[in-house]
Amino acid sequence: MSSIKILYDEETIDRRVREMAEEINKDYDEPVLVVGVLKGGVFFTCDLVKRLTMPVTMDFVSVSSYGSGTKSTGFLKFKKDIDEDVSGKHVLITEDIIDSGRTLSMLRKVFEEHGAKSVRIAVMLDKPARREVKDVKVEYTGFTIPDMFVVGYGLDFDQQYRNLPYIGVVEE
Ligand code: IMP
Ligand code: MG
Repeated sequence: MSSIKILYDEETIDRRVREMAEEINKDYDEPVLVVGVLKGGVFFTCDLVKRLTMPVTMDFVSVSSYGSGTKSTGFLKFKKDIDEDVSGKHVLITEDIIDSGRTLSMLRKVFEEHGAKSVRIAVMLDKPARREVKDVKVEYTGFTIPDMFVVGYGLDFDQQYRNLPYIGVVEE
């Protein structure tokens, strides 16, 4: 059996999400379309939107990214696209973690190309050591972590552990 070493407990995550929401509330004075990335981004997305004070609509995407490793010019396959039209809207993409940066750089590009008024990115975790797309801008980051594999709070290992209320590291 493997055990999980806790990195950020529930209380720490909750405190940080509230701080991030405060920051976001200061930055926007217009309605925002929050687009959560399935499946991992669901927990963070839901916790964050509850703390936002501007008018919020929500949508979700499910994507896989392909091609050209180190560039943001690969392409995205939408397993689930958004239902709403992004044109003229302020889009805030919410995701569990940024790793290589491919998913988020391409998502940002797609929404910009579809005429979003602005596109910003909020992630719970950032793992900068593994970045391949160097120029992805992330406006809101919960915690920056070293190059380790983490689970919980939406993050999975082989689809397991997403439901853990904390973020931790699997130990054999
Ligand atoms: P990328 O930034 O395009 O490489 O994609 C990041 C995605 O990889 C995230 O949405 C996660 O699904 C997955 N991922 C990256 N690092 C981890 C980790 O430490 N634990 C679990 N999933 C991870
Ligand atoms: Mg993911």
